[in-house]
Amino acid sequence: MTDEALDPTAQAAPRFPPDLDMSRPTVARTYDALLGGKDNFEVDRQAAVEVEKLNPGTMQLVQDNRAFLVRGVDHVTASGVRQFIDLGSGLPAADNTHQVAQRSAPGASVVYVDIDPIVLAHGRAILADSPNTTVTTADLRDVDRVLESPDTQRLIDFAQPVCVMFVSLLHCIPDEDDPFGLVDRYFERLAPGSAVIFSHLASDDQTAAQQLTERIHSLGMEWGRVRFPEEIAHAFDSLEIVSPSTDGSAPPALVDCATWRNGSTVPEKRPADPDKKIWEHAAVGFKR
Ligand SMILES: C[S@@+](CC[C@H](N)C(=O)[O-])C[C@H]1O[C@@H](n2cnc3c(N)ncnc32)[C@H](O)[C@@H]1O
Repeated sequence: MTDEALDPTAQAAPRFPPDLDMSRPTVARTYDALLGGKDNFEVDRQAAVEVEKLNPGTMQLVQDNRAFLVRGVDHVTASGVRQFIDLGSGLPAADNTHQVAQRSAPGASVVYVDIDPIVLAHGRAILADSPNTTVTTADLRDVDRVLESPDTQRLIDFAQPVCVMFVSLLHCIPDEDDPFGLVDRYFERLAPGSAVIFSHLASDDQTAAQQLTERIHSLGMEWGRVRFPEEIAHAFDSLEIVSPSTDGSAPPALVDCATWRNGSTVPEKRPADPDKKIWEHAAVGFKR
């Protein structure tokens, strides 16, 4: 990416600016800047430039992650699940969970949850004519609040399977908050047949992981860390992972999100390019 692609002086015009802290970047707004969105501020675009400089290819990585999200929602919808809780949903992008799910299952319900109030501000606008969809501001670590909020209770029937999405999310949660224990805390409340769509920034290179983690912290964002693939696998201790290949022939495993059920692409546990030291480690799984 060139600096011009993320011009920090470009004018963004958030549609409903609420009471937002513009003195430092946030994960939601910086991620939107990396995706080429407009719902961000100069401080976020500066942060996106810094991250891309340190880890060239981050812009492509976030595109690959969004494409994974779409394939994941398609897969789970095709398996018959009709209810989604999209945790850390981020700002609306090109193809959002409710649009993907409702394309093949028009009655599908979607609860978007994000800690950043800008997501609610922008989400309301795109959801105005989508009665089965809502967006709420909450911290995913407050499991009771997320699951018992009036929005969730109105749209989700917990006697039926629910898909909970942790897409590009748990690296935002520090170790002391037990990120993978959170997955279990959600799933112990869900019916059999419930699904998870999951991705997490991973690296097999200690230096690369540490540098990106430190840069994001130094930019002032609330964040956890890049983790190693073997740590991330613990998210699935109580769940059954599906094959990452479209024809189902590859053994169940977490893989680089760009290669998860992506046409005839062979699923890979890390990017083939050895210079790509950071990727989104991804899987879809079910509670049996
Ligand atoms: C990297 S973005 C991913 C957005 C979206 N899931 C995707 O994959 O395109 C991470 C999102 O998680 C949100 N987030 C971070 N910590 C959170 C928390 N504790 N509770 C809820 N949302 C959180 C951020 O505000 C941000 O919007």
